[in-house]
Order: sequence, then structure tokens, then C-alpha cells
Amino acid sequence: MKKQIAPSILSADFAKLGEEILAVEKAGADLIHIDIMDGHFVPNLTMGPPLVQSIRKITKLPLDCHLMIENPEKFIGAFKDAGADWISVHIETCNLAQVLPAIKKLGCKAGAVINPPTPLEKILPFCRLADFILVMTVNPGFGGQSTVDGTLEKIAALKKFLVAKNLNIPIEVDGGVKTENIAEFAKAGADIFVSGSGIFHTKDYAKTIQQIKTII
Ligand code: DX5
Ligand code: ZN
Repeated sequence: MKKQIAPSILSADFAKLGEEILAVEKAGADLIHIDIMDGHFVPNLTMGPPLVQSIRKITKLPLDCHLMIENPEKFIGAFKDAGADWISVHIETCNLAQVLPAIKKLGCKAGAVINPPTPLEKILPFCRLADFILVMTVNPGFGGQSTVDGTLEKIAALKKFLVAKNLNIPIEVDGGVKTENIAEFAKAGADIFVSGSGIFHTKDYAKTIQQIKTII
């Protein structure tokens, strides 16, 4: 499966967001990861459809919108209209059996997300409905956190399940992923690597992304 790098703009300098996005695109990013937070499901507020619409105008890279919001089904249409290509929703916020097919019906790739405290078994029945599975490696809400213990084992167990069921579905990892630990996530079975501070808080994005690509 193709390994992909998704810089999370949560750690970009918002005062020059356009330049930051173009810089990571030029540096070899495969996707742009956009963290949508509502202040209810997670204790932080970030961006909404108008921002996605503006970003859509400046990059051709797929926009990977990670919805950390309650009632995500009410907003998937607005994100699609704004230009989202990938939309992921948390098992903790909705009925995946309904929302994943609804995202696909809009023409977007549908992702199922699981938080660190939620047991892996909860998401397994919905895997075949998803285009990708996002395993959170921190409790969502903020960039720059350290990974939670036990997430490597969770990724490995999910990979084992997908292989056993013959499901060719990529695993995305998000939270605390950086050059120092990315090899472990790759070894555990991750295919898509979200990194916010691990890219945007380094001086040379091209060098960092190149390093990540060499490691994974
Ligand atoms: C966390 C977000 C992440 C975050 C990752 O709630 O979902 O996408 O931006 O940031 P880093 O890579 O700094 O942990
Ligand atoms: Zn995210």
C-alpha cells in the first residue's frame, strides 16, 4: 500500500496559512490534514467549511478533513461543498453504519476514527464500510502532544484483522507522529501519517518530509 504523508495544518502559522500549505505541498506532502473541532466533542475550537473553501482554491492536494465534532452527519455536506476530498468521523460521535455510506454517497473518501480509550473491537464491524481507518495516537483536541501508550499495539492488531479479512484498507495515524517515532508506526502497520508539529515546527519542511519518506 502506498505510504502517504499528511501534514496537519493545526500546527501551521495561521497568519500565513496559504504560504504554509504551498510550502508543504512543494516539500512533498501527499494530503493536507485539516482538524475540525467544535469545543464539545473536544476541548478546542478550530476551523469550519469557509476555511476549507479558501484552502481548496490554493492547492490541488486532497483535503483530508478530520471531524472532531458532535453530530458530524449534519456537516458532511457542507464540508463536501467546501472542497473536502476525505472526510473522517469518530465512532464516539455517530453511527458509522449510517454516516460512512453517507460520506461515500457525497463522493468523498470515508474514514472511521477511533480514540485511544475506545477498544479496537468497537470499530471492527464498521471497517468494511470505510475507505480508511484513522487510529488516534493522542486524545484529540490539541497539536504537539505525546503519543498515548498502547497505540502501537492497537495499530498492529487492526492491521492483523484487516489482513485476515482480506480488507485492503489503509490505516492512518494521527497525534504525536514525528521523525523520531515514525518508524515504529510504520512497522506496526500504518500507511498514512498525519504530522502537525512534527513538520510545521521544523525549520526545513522539505528536509523533514524527505526524512520521513526515507524512514517509512
Ligand atoms: C489532534 C489532531 C491532530 C493534530 C496532530 O487532535 O487530530 O491532527 O494536529 O498534531 P501533532 O502531530 O502535533 O500531534
Ligand atoms: Zn487530526
